[in-house]
Amino acid sequence: MPSLAIIGAQWGDEGKGKITDYIDETADLIVRFQGGNNAGHTIKVGDKVFKLHGLPSGVVRKGNLAVIGNGTVVNMDELIEEMDQVVKAGGTLEGLRISDRAHLIFNYHKKLDGAEEKYRGNKVVGTTKKGIGPAYQDKIARIGIRAGDLLEDAPLKEKTDFILPYKKDLMSMLESEPCGCDCGTLYEKMKGWRDKIGGYICDTSVLINEALDSGKKVLFEGAQGAMLDIDHGTYPYVTSSSTCGGGICTGAGVAPNRIGKVVGCLKAYTTRVGEGPLVTELSGEAADALQKKGGEFGVTTGRGRRCGWLDLVVAGHASRLCGFTSLAITKLDVLNDYEELPICMAYRIDGKETRYFPASISRLQRAEPIYITMKGWKGWDDTESVVKGGYDALPKEMRTYVQFIENNLNVPADMISIGPDRKDTIDRKKDWWA
Ligand code: IMP
Repeated sequence: MPSLAIIGAQWGDEGKGKITDYIDETADLIVRFQGGNNAGHTIKVGDKVFKLHGLPSGVVRKGNLAVIGNGTVVNMDELIEEMDQVVKAGGTLEGLRISDRAHLIFNYHKKLDGAEEKYRGNKVVGTTKKGIGPAYQDKIARIGIRAGDLLEDAPLKEKTDFILPYKKDLMSMLESEPCGCDCGTLYEKMKGWRDKIGGYICDTSVLINEALDSGKKVLFEGAQGAMLDIDHGTYPYVTSSSTCGGGICTGAGVAPNRIGKVVGCLKAYTTRVGEGPLVTELSGEAADALQKKGGEFGVTTGRGRRCGWLDLVVAGHASRLCGFTSLAITKLDVLNDYEELPICMAYRIDGKETRYFPASISRLQRAEPIYITMKGWKGWDDTESVVKGGYDALPKEMRTYVQFIENNLNVPADMISIGPDRKDTIDRKKDWWA
């Protein structure tokens, strides 16, 4: 029962899309287990480019099953748009399956996302405004509408009649923009979704477990990153789902002993979008230069990402929580312009040193990074020789940087990415499922 997970080791945008795309070629089934269309992956298949937010990346490959698991939240209108885009580009949806237990995102969730942010005043989270948080709030409050509800008329009508007046009261209390619908139109809209999507809805936990029983290769595709986890991230500056390893069990409906390998996708430096602490954050020209060189602008929102040096306190926290068995280190080439590269090894908070990531935001705000400085590989730009020669053709300083990370986290860097193209990838493992 080979299974493998790919999880972001920082605040998302680590380049998981490229790594997933590389490995999912050999997978039989790809599963999204948390989050929604707040994620953004650009997938290239041949000369076709797909920008996906809600769909699992494997959906574009023929023969793959691609699952939207029960731990996700789904915006049906946007999913249908994405599905149309994939079909127009010649992709296939025959393998798509949506969990009957996945919760739906409605327009009122999006409006409430905006209204809640406004209500927070100068304490905004900086959400993607996709309605993710409000949809998960409804799940936990036990008033959400799930994909499976679309399939049954009477309970669907009952739920709609209950939820919409409740949400309208809440929206008026928060002075939200109106959601622009009444119970009748919402109910009809949902029946429209059923016509388009109903055939894809099933119990995906059964499907995944049966696939594992029959020896199929199952890939769990993480969205966002460990530091945005609702429990273990920089709360409250997090997303509303479980982005770490544990989220796979609850979000896909698989037992812990069914999770095999876990690949931690680690960007060679650090970025985050939205608000919240970032201890190694750069400012001014240094930040602008790294942002520009790394093309650090969000796929979902277009927002510029905040940039900083590599933080091994963060990566250690993520590795402990997710159980990384391999690292995929990405965007090393973005660091080509530096004489020296600081790596944060610990924080000094109120005069005391710690290697553990604190829960308290105020402690994080007072944290000073303690760096060691590595020699850079300034001027090196010979990706071509690496394409031919592999790891050994990397400059010595880059190998030292990689080894330092491996030794510190005690996890092998089995994949190294030094450019956006598939060929700019050093695969030191070859068989990812063994
Ligand atoms: P939400 O997920 O829209 O509620 O946003 C909560 C926080 O997570 C914000 O700081 C977002 O910028 C961040 N976030 C959500 N999705 C992603 C992602 O896919 N990549 C990076 N950051 C994300």
